[in-house]
Amino acid sequence: MSTKLSQVEYDRIDNIFTSVESEVLNIEAPGRINLIGEHIDYNGGNVLPAAIDKCIYYSFKKNESATISNVLSKNFSEGFSFDITIPEKPGDGWLSYLSGVLSEIDKIRPGKVSGFDCSLDSKLPIGSGISSSAALLCGFAKGLNELFSLEIDDITIIRLCQNAERIFSGANVGVMDQFAVVKGKKDHFILLDCETLEYSTIPAAMNTNMLLLLNTNVSHNLADSAYNERRAQCESALEIIQTKYPEVKTLVEATEQMVEELKSELGEDRVKRSTHVIQEQKRVEATVEALKNNDFTLVGELLNQSHDGLQNLYEVSCPELDFLAAYAKADDRVLGARMMGGGFGGCTINLIDEKNVDGFVADASKAYKEACNLDLTPIPVKTNNGVQKI
Ligand code: GLA
Repeated sequence: MSTKLSQVEYDRIDNIFTSVESEVLNIEAPGRINLIGEHIDYNGGNVLPAAIDKCIYYSFKKNESATISNVLSKNFSEGFSFDITIPEKPGDGWLSYLSGVLSEIDKIRPGKVSGFDCSLDSKLPIGSGISSSAALLCGFAKGLNELFSLEIDDITIIRLCQNAERIFSGANVGVMDQFAVVKGKKDHFILLDCETLEYSTIPAAMNTNMLLLLNTNVSHNLADSAYNERRAQCESALEIIQTKYPEVKTLVEATEQMVEELKSELGEDRVKRSTHVIQEQKRVEATVEALKNNDFTLVGELLNQSHDGLQNLYEVSCPELDFLAAYAKADDRVLGARMMGGGFGGCTINLIDEKNVDGFVADASKAYKEACNLDLTPIPVKTNNGVQKI
């Protein structure tokens, strides 16, 4: 059970972090992009995300109490006082996510966390598909790890945050977001094998091109049954494929020929979902090659193809994302674009020459307003390190 902090208490704790004398632990937790490989992580394949230069900023300091802690959100101008041994209920706002992390940490380091004060300030728009929730959870977990010298390794942090997100959002999410947020490397993409968690880093320099997110300002909700439904469809598609091909261990290992052969057993929806997964996995490999060869025209084409798959086969897009992807595809200034993240809202990711950004954003914003009656928010992004002390 938490209690809302009075203004006086909020200001007292805020002052701890703003006063120059106090020794404070400051942490930045980045959001993430995914260049390509969408809805692939929970199908056991390779994805190509990166941490970005838009972050949640955390400050931590131990307090004198054994279990009472105070957390402020500068964004909501509100704070709560709570006992860290009493978990919050899932779904009770941002504090319940943090409480989820505390419960997960307590399972592996029982009784090692004591009272602390914490302030957080997010520069990540919520619900825009850039993993504000993974940044919230991983930044908090890494901060506590440092503050209380818990010595929890990164993979355990990634898994415990994934678990907390599953419990507290209701979406059975994969591992990509937490991995990118924790393991990101400036100027690089992460090529992650989501089955083994082995990874390598791929240089992200793209001549004069850059990555531009366009936020539809349509909010997605991963807890929406659609995410879990897609995942369940992929799991049952794999089971059907395994009845004939037991050697296929993950859906990305299946082939389009297998899907074609088993199409009546699979049924239309599972055929479409599996086809996207198989094709998208090939696009990840092709994108890595294209990046190595500095073939950014090809990277752009692969992004466009990815959007087609997500729109028509995986069916996780929405009219606003489709409008922006189609607009970018028809515009010579953009090399390629696609919806990014779980879907049903959030951002498109666009590969574009820096010199074209201003003109394209002006025209796309006008067209988007006319077509969808919504404002477009451009978010230029650079790759970044994962959660770190600042
Ligand atoms: C969300 C989930 C990820 C991943 C993407 C889709 O961001 O959290 O695990 O499944 O959707 O690629």
